[in-house]
Amino acid sequence: MKAIVIHEFGPPDVLKYEDVPDPQPREGEIRIRVHAATVNRVLDVSLRAGREGFRGAALPLIPGVDCAGVVDAVGPGVRNWRPGMRVAAAGVMPLDIVAEDGEGYCGPEGMMGIKRPGGFAELVCVPACAAIELPEGLDFHHAAVVMRHVPTAWNLLFHVAELKAGETVLVMGAGGNLGSIGIQIAKNVIGATVIAAAGSEERAQIGRELGADHAINYNTHDLRAEIMKITGGKGVDVLYDNIANPKVLPQAFRAIGYEGRLVTAGAHGGPNVTIDFSYLYHQRITIKGMPGYHPLDVPLCFAAAAEGKVRTQIERVLPLSRAAEAHRLVESGESQGKIVLDPTLG
Ligand SMILES: NC(=O)c1ccc[n+]([C@@H]2O[C@H](COP(=O)([O-])OP(=O)(O)OC[C@H]3O[C@@H](n4cnc5c(N)ncnc54)[C@H](OP(=O)(O)O)[C@@H]3O)[C@@H](O)[C@H]2O)c1
Repeated sequence: MKAIVIHEFGPPDVLKYEDVPDPQPREGEIRIRVHAATVNRVLDVSLRAGREGFRGAALPLIPGVDCAGVVDAVGPGVRNWRPGMRVAAAGVMPLDIVAEDGEGYCGPEGMMGIKRPGGFAELVCVPACAAIELPEGLDFHHAAVVMRHVPTAWNLLFHVAELKAGETVLVMGAGGNLGSIGIQIAKNVIGATVIAAAGSEERAQIGRELGADHAINYNTHDLRAEIMKITGGKGVDVLYDNIANPKVLPQAFRAIGYEGRLVTAGAHGGPNVTIDFSYLYHQRITIKGMPGYHPLDVPLCFAAAAEGKVRTQIERVLPLSRAAEAHRLVESGESQGKIVLDPTLG
């Protein structure tokens, strides 16, 4: 099969489009013919550049931390999957959920594309229990983006922030991936009042179009003052930030109301941010970081996407062979939506 292989960390050109042996599904695994894999700022671009050493990626590596496609073959002990089924998988392949065979086997632990071969390939094997069947009406490209971002946003808002209908949430990075999805989950699924914030009018407008009740460009407006105006001086119940922008997060933090919660699963704009601890304890604010997601939420996320409650933004779909170009696009910071690689296009 064809795959992207990294033999050494470095610039985008280290992504080599090569012939490698077809992977064979082991016990409890399914093999997926990949139709889509997303390109990510941290887990692909930063990893390829050699800036994510602590994650322990072993070279040579087939990257790609998610995929969507069609089941192509099944390993021994797999009963609920058969070739032809539409499927997505991503991230850490956990050990702590019960496998189909009831014996708890879920394949080797580790994140696909980092600790085990990833989705930048024509074929990839994943533990059957870490895969989800796709609902009708969701194409592979959008399914890969749903798999990558929606469960994380869902977990942050539902379980970590415990955002309730009628509460107010401030969503930072309204035009970004977790931001744009967070707006829709908060508004369309939870029923909260949503204030979107972004660093440009164009990205603030994306927030409005996705259903935010208010949108603020923090480069032209005083973020805290605007939020206090909107909330009648009360501040927001939840601040959802996955950026850690040192210029903006301190202002946003001081817009959190009494007993408010700050939740996060990302820090690419930081990571160091100055926090007003006096405000923190007087306002009884909780800060919680939580990457990843809860496996039981994944079907709910796909159902929300299939129902149109959560729409993902795709900027471009490129053939797998153009992975280096895809990395450059993400690195340039100019792309507004997700870049997706499709191995069926070459
Ligand atoms: N499973 C997980 O835990 C999980 C899953 C997905 C993502 N993440 C993490 O969550 C974070 C957000 O991911 P994403 O895909 O939503 O990001 P993204 O779409 O690439 O970027 C989100 C926003 O960050 C701001 N931004 C971009 N570059 C910046 C920079 N250099 N300095 C300051 N701000 C910058 C921009 O918003 P403005 O309008 O404010 O400029 C952009 O819209 C990442 O750190 C990612 O690693 C974690």
